[in-house]
Order: sequence, then C-alpha cells, then structure tokens
Amino acid sequence: MPAIAIIGAQWGDEGKGKATDLLGDRVDYVVKFNGGNNAGHTVVIGQPDGSSEKYALHLLPSGILSPGCTPVIGNGVVIDLAVLFQELDALVERGIDVSRLKVSANAHVIADYNRTLDKVTERFLGSRRIGTTGRGIGPTYADKMNRVGIRIQDIFDEKILRQKVEGVLDLKGQVLTKIYNRRPATVDETVEELRAYAERLAPMVCDTGLVLNQALDRGETVLLEAGQATLLDVDHGTYPFVTSSSATSGGACTGSGIPPTRLEQVIGIVKAYTTRVGEGPFPTELFDDHGEHLRKVGAEYGTTTGRPRRCGWYDAVIARYAARVNGVTDFVLTKLDVLTGLEKVPVCVAYDVDGVRHDEMPVNQSDFHHAVPIYEHLDGWWEDISEARTFADLPVNAQRYVEAVEEMSGARISAVGVGPSRAATVVRHELI
Ligand code: IMP
Repeated sequence: MPAIAIIGAQWGDEGKGKATDLLGDRVDYVVKFNGGNNAGHTVVIGQPDGSSEKYALHLLPSGILSPGCTPVIGNGVVIDLAVLFQELDALVERGIDVSRLKVSANAHVIADYNRTLDKVTERFLGSRRIGTTGRGIGPTYADKMNRVGIRIQDIFDEKILRQKVEGVLDLKGQVLTKIYNRRPATVDETVEELRAYAERLAPMVCDTGLVLNQALDRGETVLLEAGQATLLDVDHGTYPFVTSSSATSGGACTGSGIPPTRLEQVIGIVKAYTTRVGEGPFPTELFDDHGEHLRKVGAEYGTTTGRPRRCGWYDAVIARYAARVNGVTDFVLTKLDVLTGLEKVPVCVAYDVDGVRHDEMPVNQSDFHHAVPIYEHLDGWWEDISEARTFADLPVNAQRYVEAVEEMSGARISAVGVGPSRAATVVRHELI
C-alpha cells in the first residue's frame, strides 16, 4: 500500500483526530510529521457497553489508541519531553498499551528557554502578537533552521548535549536577560531537564524514516497525520499568522522521510463551517448570534489552550486553495450536524476585494485582510442527522449542502461527520 496523508484544509481543529481514528484499524503506522504540543486532537471512542471514552491528545499521534497500529513521531516534530511522558503516563493509567511508540532520532526538543521566549515575545509584540499557544514551538523551529537546535539523539551523549546547550544559551541567555529581563535556565539545569528522560526515551528512538520506508516495501499502510492545517502552514498559510512548521502534504514528506512518489492519497479534513484560534485574517468570521451559535453547538473551545475559537461560515475559496496546495484526493466534511436548525446556510464562494471579485486566494496579504465574502445561501434542514449512516439517510437539503460544497471545493467529499463518535459518520466512498 502507498502512504496516505491526512491534512487540515482550514485553520486547524477540523476533526483530523476523528478521521485518523476512523482509518486507524486499517493502517499499520500513524505518523505525526509536524508541530508539537500546540496541536490538540479529541478522539471519542465508543465502547462495547454503549458508553464512550474521550481522549485529548496533544503530542501523540492518534494511532496510539488503535491496538494494531504503530504510532510514530517523525523528524519534523518538535517534542516537549515532559508533555510526551505526561501523555504516555495518562494513557497507561487508562489501560492503553503505549509500548509501540517510535520516536525519530532527528526530531527536535523544546527546551525551557524556548517556552519562555515564546511567551515573552508574544507579550513584547502586544497588538502585533500572533496569538501562539505559548508552547515554545516557533522558537524551537527557529533554532532548527538556525542550526542551533537540540535533537533527540543529542540527549544520549551528555558531552555533545552540553556543548550544544552552551552554544545556544550563549545567545539566548543574553536575549532573555538583557531584552526581556528574565533569568534563563542555566546550562546545568537545561542539560539535567533533558537528560532526565533519556532512559525512558531510549527504547523508542530510531531512524523512523527507514522504519517507515521498510514498512511500505512490505506492503503496509502508513498514514501521515498533520498537526495544524493548510492556512497555518509556514509557507502556504496566512503568514505571519501561522505556525512555524509545514502542515501541508509536502511537509508530510519532509517531516517523515517518506518520498513524494510514495504518497498516493491526500485526505483533506474540512469542517462544515470555519473556525480559527489566535490572531490573523478570517474573511467569513461571524461577530453576531450565528457565530455564538456555532461556537456553542460545535463546542468550539481549544483542546490545547481552552481559548474560544473564532467561528464563521464555510469558505469554499480556502477549501479550493487547500485542495490545490495539498493535492487533496478526498475531503472528509466534519460536524455537519452543527448546522442543523438554520433557515439558510451561507457558503462563501468568492471574495470581493475593493470591488474586484476573487475566485482564488488573493496572493497579497493586504487583499486577504480586506476580502469580503460573497455568499451563496443554501436551504437549511431541521431534522436530527446524528443517526444518519448513509447519504440517503440525510435530509434532502443536507444532501444538497454536501453536494454544493463538494462542487465548489475541488475534490470529492468521501465522508461526512454527523456527530462526535467514530460511528457517527456517513461514508460516501471508502477512504482506503
Ligand atoms: P504556535 O503554533 O503555538 O506557534 O501558534 C501559531 C498559530 O497557530 C496561533 O494562531 C495558534 O493559535 C495556531 N495553532 C497552533 N496549533 C493549532 C492547532 O492545533 N489548532 C488550531 N490552531 C493552532
């Protein structure tokens, strides 16, 4: 089997965890290839007795919950080791076997100085802030690009680790003390913090690129699961209001060591409306009762930071853009049930920018900031759709909504989420 990527088609929180979990039983490896504990997947798994278990994962790939699946943290990820072991311990307490986890020797680690820098920089930026999650993600990727990052493999050689920490703290210590008036952790404290995990980490660490390519050679299925989403991608997103990693299908290759020629399917996850956390442009954002309604019914509060998410209508322009940038072969449309009970459901089909119609994402940042949505108003439905399991089970207007959105978005919609649990899904085309 080829490799398959799952990516977010909007600004994150589209329900990638659920989609990954939907495939989890049929894939052998699930790989997290970008980001760190800025992400948050909520996975709800129905139990044999009819109850359901909810898991909030930040750093671990959601494949960790599927017994036959090997979860992998790829080289493109930045790892906060304390968070990694907290998450693992919490799962073990709930009876989940985590012994299959593999961690790339080339992934970078988030050290204390970068968590501090993330927070103080945001404070310093004031009204120009990005609205980061404050987890040290940006500064850690900056170190990686600046070639002063600390990698997982460095932790096992105390001498090398100390040299690298000394090198990076030489500069960061000055910045933290002299600009931000913060006492940075010392070299000894930092080395100690990172070394504390060495023993537990060692059995998990390997050349994950090699492991994954060998698995593909054997005909196994590898699912590459993006953190964040297309519009938060450092190259293709709404820069500078983005995260610092490659969240698109290209990043799936660089962040895992799997070549593009082995990637045959790209599943884009798109919510039936749009949300965003943090700062930055968002053309279809709602500031009225409709926005509050979506937030309330959709429970749109951040998994990682608890922040209320900004909510707005479906934006077909960004869905088309995501289809193009990622080469989306199938969309999964999530949370359709949240739209139940609306007289009319607006969908943004294009933007008006200072009197000029844009059918594609404007390349210029200022144009995107000024984009006014041009809406098509589709008929709503009132029936409860949470029990729908086939397309024909959906009310006609809900079917029309899915078909209209599909027509506008540049790839077929293969599955539709109608409720939080794994089972609450209408499958139109088998995903793998
Ligand atoms: P950072 O990733 O913490 O540097 O934050 C950069 C931007 O990405 C901020 O607007 C965050 O709110 C946003 N962001 C980061 N991770 C997620 C996510 O998992 N879902 C949605 N937004 C995210």
